[in-house]
Amino acid sequence: MRTFFQFIIIVFLVNNTLSLTLDGSWIGKITTNKHEQEITFSATVPGGIYTDLNKAHIIPNNLNENNDVINRWVGNQSVIYTKRFYVNNTLLNAPKVVLIFHGVDTFATILLNGHEIGETSNMFLRYTFDVTKYLEKEENLLEIFFSSPVKIAEILHNKQALKYVIPPICTPDSYNGECHVNYIRKMQASFSWDWGPAFPSMGIWKSVEIIPINEIYIMDVTTDIHKKENFWNIIITLFFEVTSQRNITCHISSVLNINDQLNIHNSSNVNLYTNDKDTKRTILLKIPTNLVNEWWPNGYGNQTLYSLTVTTATSTDVKQKIIHIGFRTVELIQKPLKTGLSFYFQINNVPIFAKGSNFIPASVFPELTAKTDTIKHLLRSAKEANMNMLRVWGGGLYESELFYNIADEYGIMIWQDFMFACAMYPTTEEFLESTKKEVIQNVQRLKNHPSIVLWAGNNENEAALYGNWYGTGTEQIYKTDYIKLYVDLIKKEVEQLDSTRPFVVSSPSNGLYTEKYNYIGKDPYLKTFGDVHYYNYFNNGWDMHQYPRVRFSSEYGFQSLPSIYTMLPIVSTITDLDIHSDFFKHRQHLPLGTEYLINLISKNLKLPDTQNTLKRFEDYIYLSQINQAVSVKIQTEFYRQSKSDLNEIGEGMTMGALYWQLNDVWQAPSWSSIGK
Ligand SMILES: *[C@@H]1O[C@H](CO)[C@@H](O)[C@H](O)[C@H]1NC(C)=O
Ligand SMILES: *[C@@H]1O[C@H](CO)[C@@H](O)[C@H](O)[C@H]1NC(C)=O
Ligand SMILES: *[C@@H]1O[C@H](CO)[C@@H](O)[C@H](O)[C@H]1NC(C)=O
Ligand SMILES: *[C@@H]1O[C@H](CO)[C@@H](O)[C@H](O)[C@H]1NC(C)=O
Ligand SMILES: *[C@@H]1O[C@H](CO)[C@@H](O)[C@H](O)[C@H]1NC(C)=O
Repeated sequence: MRTFFQFIIIVFLVNNTLSLTLDGSWIGKITTNKHEQEITFSATVPGGIYTDLNKAHIIPNNLNENNDVINRWVGNQSVIYTKRFYVNNTLLNAPKVVLIFHGVDTFATILLNGHEIGETSNMFLRYTFDVTKYLEKEENLLEIFFSSPVKIAEILHNKQALKYVIPPICTPDSYNGECHVNYIRKMQASFSWDWGPAFPSMGIWKSVEIIPINEIYIMDVTTDIHKKENFWNIIITLFFEVTSQRNITCHISSVLNINDQLNIHNSSNVNLYTNDKDTKRTILLKIPTNLVNEWWPNGYGNQTLYSLTVTTATSTDVKQKIIHIGFRTVELIQKPLKTGLSFYFQINNVPIFAKGSNFIPASVFPELTAKTDTIKHLLRSAKEANMNMLRVWGGGLYESELFYNIADEYGIMIWQDFMFACAMYPTTEEFLESTKKEVIQNVQRLKNHPSIVLWAGNNENEAALYGNWYGTGTEQIYKTDYIKLYVDLIKKEVEQLDSTRPFVVSSPSNGLYTEKYNYIGKDPYLKTFGDVHYYNYFNNGWDMHQYPRVRFSSEYGFQSLPSIYTMLPIVSTITDLDIHSDFFKHRQHLPLGTEYLINLISKNLKLPDTQNTLKRFEDYIYLSQINQAVSVKIQTEFYRQSKSDLNEIGEGMTMGALYWQLNDVWQAPSWSSIGK
């Protein structure tokens, strides 16, 4: 293979990226609800209102005491973020300039030099605006007007309720939550969950940049990698922004770097037309399988990754992007057993028992979910515990590049939910349109990562509908909505966008069998199909006979209390550190959670009998952690023991155990194994 060195060197000289970052310091404004007074504060981008206001000493520490409720007024206000910035001639003279917001949380109107350039309404979208004609002079003013997500959710609910209600109407009282989060495309857990507080955040939670485009700009590069006989065929797709001046001939080249001596490359000339709307072009790179190592899950081999460099050249413009890819096949094997179907992952033709946990966002504040230290610590812990899979759960976020890069590197397979959880969802035209963009953008953003092995439509919404969790009863409209959103839209889009990975509509669900009964209408907890979630707070957690012999257990778990050292800094008085204190009740969101916990402990261990409340609290912490550890160990061992055989009624061949939940967002009783 001929190397491409000369070309690469030229490219590096030409390819100093001209983008101007608008990250860093901004100015924020909020009206306090108390005195209707406007306060100005210094803000940070990427950032968010709760983090900014706390840094500016306007609100107390968000995670202390019951400050989630004390600080709640913030989520009901409107907020303005502004930035003054300067541009040089490179930007002023460019034929086209785009302003890119990688993440806006959530409802905002954006003005540049007083001109409205657009609106945002989905925090999972990247927004790109053509600002060529609004960038008038060296000094510019960007203003982002945020509306309260709580108020918008309420307005959307009131409007929808004229036809029919989309339940649940609200969270249980013990959550101290906000209502109607299912109407808005925002992290669903930001209005509270059973393990976390409500912080209805607002802000610019990812980077902002402004980019001059002479002729072309590579927005994204995706790869679809198929193994065909002795080759890995990489279909590389480039997504362009082009200026609208004239038609362009563009030379595209791609180089896979195998080692210092060896590159494999391919190139072609393509035409880009001015009238193209969605400008993308593909190029094929065929890699002989014997020249590269496969990517393996943790414990099965190396996690070899390769860098793929894509370069585009027109007569005046050279652009380049480098991505990292891995070579592996993934199949979700669902073949007939004595009864039902199997359900397991097969990587590079090797069946894999999925060992791991469920991942919730690393912070309830979206801007803090991509901190290198935190993500590395969590994924490293998973790797060192010999996990090979994490499920990115549907009430959180599509995680950061950092998260998936580390998962690639550590061999942690990712079960990736779409962000719909424990609710019915609207199917208005706007909602479906927004969801469609969300699916397209996020699949395109993430599909280069070998760690991602499955897309899943939602968390527990089939179960909620089948089990009538939210009073939907037998109403056809909710079933129709379910099919519209997850089958007709998400499933269809994902299967078009990514033919290299399996898709399941929901978790838990019955896998392929759901198609037989049109995705709803049968108990999604069948043990002989698909995956199951199992929780039981009455039976003895140390008794393995209670556990269901399922094909794949994607959620199961037990609460425990966090360490005393994580709680000490967040309480105001030592009397808070009592299992019966108001502080502790405030943190326990699960209705009857503490009663369940005490009862479960008492089945195997002696309960504390001291009258010293602090000592008693410490004893409960210890006992709850022992109970959690032993229960999860026994349940997990039960699943592993069920791996190789079927019982007389065809249950068994369990090939996955993902306990709930790996991590925490605050200091509270929860199912997590790693505390806040
Ligand atoms: C103009 O600003 C951009 C973005 O900061 C920078 O990359 C570029 O080098 C600047 N151009 C000149 C001529 O200084
Ligand atoms: C915020 O707005 C919601 C919806 O209108 C309302 O129910 C709630 O009481 C308000 N909360 C605060 C703290 O003002
Ligand atoms: C660009 O090419 C298209 C397709 O060949 C043609 O229809 C169009 O007129 C061309 N535009 C310009 C500005 O040359
Ligand atoms: C380069 O692309 C052409 C056209 O798609 C294809 O036939 C050829 O096999 C490719 N070569 C390599 C090394 O990928
Ligand atoms: C995995 O990587 C190690 C260290 O680079 C290497 O020695 C070993 O041969 C690799 N194993 C396989 C199966 O490629």
